[in-house]
Amino acid sequence: MFKKNIFENHLKSEIFGRHIKYFKSICSTNSEATNYLSQDNHGCVIITKNQTSGKGRRNNQWFSIPNKSLTFSIIVNQKKIKNKNLLPIITAITIIKAIKKISKIQCSIKWPNDIMLNNQKIGGILIEKKNDYMIVGIGINVNEEIDDLNAEIKNISTSLRINSAPLIQLEVLLAYILNELEKYCYEDDTNFIEEWLTLCYHIDKEIKFHKNHKIIKGTFKGINANGQGIININNQTELISSGMIEL
Ligand code: BTN
Repeated sequence: MFKKNIFENHLKSEIFGRHIKYFKSICSTNSEATNYLSQDNHGCVIITKNQTSGKGRRNNQWFSIPNKSLTFSIIVNQKKIKNKNLLPIITAITIIKAIKKISKIQCSIKWPNDIMLNNQKIGGILIEKKNDYMIVGIGINVNEEIDDLNAEIKNISTSLRINSAPLIQLEVLLAYILNELEKYCYEDDTNFIEEWLTLCYHIDKEIKFHKNHKIIKGTFKGINANGQGIININNQTELISSGMIEL
């Protein structure tokens, strides 16, 4: 059950989350959101406590545990916000701020926008675009115990609970994310990229990435205004736009 009163008690935004569609169980909140793409639904949140077939980036599956994982999507009309090009960057920053606020745990970012804790993945962002709309899908491992994690991801994933956070009310974490995200979406771009860089844990580190079926090594230098990764390879700069890096 979604505890609407607890959510509303913590929600400070004007638009994001003021309209919410809760489903007891659905395949994917991102897929469900495509049914609601209209002007009136800017800022509308689609949430479930039992996502059965979550989508990850690069056609991966996103695993979640009923009532323990936070899985939701926000419908954003890109004409109505100031910082649409920086939305992936802003989203990662605001998730980290909200997690810090609720649990005191400091997560970090792995390019392009994985939310990490101690080199293990704790959350992910999938932004899908359709016409004027961006569907911002967010999955965070919150109250899962170690035995809850799927064998496929056990070694590379973690949750807030596994890292000693007390049990967290998903409604409160959701409200904290929406409060921050709305602020960032309407703010004049001050220093979002710098803020992202302070939260990224592999600046100036050696990384590997795949290009044309080859593994390329380089030094991760940061991101540009389009969110592309800037890699230094033998004193030459290369920009990467998609995919995954390995540390
Ligand atoms: C990633 O691969 O890192 C992105 C994962 C995004 C998962 C979230 S969970 C809520 C929303 N609905 C989905 O089907 N996927 C996103």
